[in-house]
Amino acid sequence: MKRKVYIETYGCQMNLADSEIVMGILNNKGYEVTNKIDSADVVFLNTCSVRDNAEQRIHGRLGNIGTLKQRNPNMVIGVLGCMAERLKDDLIEKKKMVDLVVGPDEYRRLPSLIDDAVNGEKGIGVRLSRTETYEDIEPYREDGLSAWISVMRGCDKFCTYCVVPFTRGRERSSKLISVVEDVKKLSERGFREVTLLGQNVNSYSDGENDFSDLLAACAEAAPGMRIRFTTSHPQDLSDKLLYTIAEHSNICNYIHLPIQSGSDRILEAMNRTYTVKHYLGIIDRARKIIPGVSFSTDIIAGFPTETEAEHKMTLDVMAKVRYDGAFMFKYSPREGTRAYKIKDDVPEDVKSRRLTEIIDQQQKISFEINQGLKGTEDVVLVESLSKKSDNFYSGRTDTNKIVILPVANNVKIGDLVKVKIFKATSATLFGDFVEIVDKYQL
Ligand code: 5AD
Ligand code: SF4
Repeated sequence: MKRKVYIETYGCQMNLADSEIVMGILNNKGYEVTNKIDSADVVFLNTCSVRDNAEQRIHGRLGNIGTLKQRNPNMVIGVLGCMAERLKDDLIEKKKMVDLVVGPDEYRRLPSLIDDAVNGEKGIGVRLSRTETYEDIEPYREDGLSAWISVMRGCDKFCTYCVVPFTRGRERSSKLISVVEDVKKLSERGFREVTLLGQNVNSYSDGENDFSDLLAACAEAAPGMRIRFTTSHPQDLSDKLLYTIAEHSNICNYIHLPIQSGSDRILEAMNRTYTVKHYLGIIDRARKIIPGVSFSTDIIAGFPTETEAEHKMTLDVMAKVRYDGAFMFKYSPREGTRAYKIKDDVPEDVKSRRLTEIIDQQQKISFEINQGLKGTEDVVLVESLSKKSDNFYSGRTDTNKIVILPVANNVKIGDLVKVKIFKATSATLFGDFVEIVDKYQL
């Protein structure tokens, strides 16, 4: 009988892509993928270490799974991903029910490590690689509309707060041709959108091609698909990339460009390698080259030594850029990083208050931007029925905004539809159907 594997994924999109690679590897070895944890022979948690609260949640979940294992002692339990890399032997020694601890570059060893675990031997695979890209592995994907492909792995930026360069190792990229082949296959299977992923996609290089070349090649190979990408680092975002986005109607006019802080002193302490002025210069150029482009960002509140005035600078820069969306976090000290050595001296209540101010301001800006869209037309990819009612569809614009539209007029999930916006909140637009469009003719 086939062994059944169940996998639960935490953290970023890279982890979602990695889980598909893990399932791809195991599927090739005859495993069946299941979404029922109770009947699984192998249970994996693909974990995230980026902030302490992510790790705490996963520790809690491991506790629950321990109870499952008491009922079914033959179940193999594995911790994959960044926590495996960060905590290594600790996990095996302290959590008795964990049989396997395997970091992001050792997934090819999973079949043999599982066999060892079945024979009672605990397994650990946490070496990082300078070359592993898994580009020859076919990820296991359910049919759907949206897929992702990791095009580069690791990060060489060493922002001082960030654990990723330690848990995911050095940067390396898949070959352009292998990414393009994957995109073509997705298109043939009926996918309508693909997101090219990397911790820092702008430093993609396969020796011959840079990220703009990759993006253009994907856009041209699958003209019926939307192409998205994330995450961009302000240091490496070139004008060539901006022109590439502008020249291809199926590359989305949306850039996730984390600023992290609005203070040059804090940016320097974070080792972000750009100033606010440089950052705003990119935003200006992008808005000239790609009319209607939208931006989102990541922001950290309460980095060590951040003063009230520096916090205000973050609010100021948000007001200048007017992001369409933001991911906002309290600083979380991570052992092994450079910032960990700086005293985490912003008190918890101050961090919380600063974060709340940042979130409130972003909500206000998103609301205002969205009000301005009332009366305009945009093209939406219809993704699913709306969560609240079967009489409405939910989809997204090119600029990544959620739009609710009525179920009618022969519109199907997967269609591209022109809508006219009549109502907006800070998170959602509401549109009337105008017409179905068959291609990206924005
Ligand atoms: N504390 C808080 N936020 C962090 N991030 C990364 N490391 C930390 C940390 N130690 C945030 C950054 C990054 C996003 C993915 O997570 O904003 O862009
Ligand atoms: Fe972490 Fe900075 Fe690399 Fe992003 S660019 S993964 S924040 S080190």
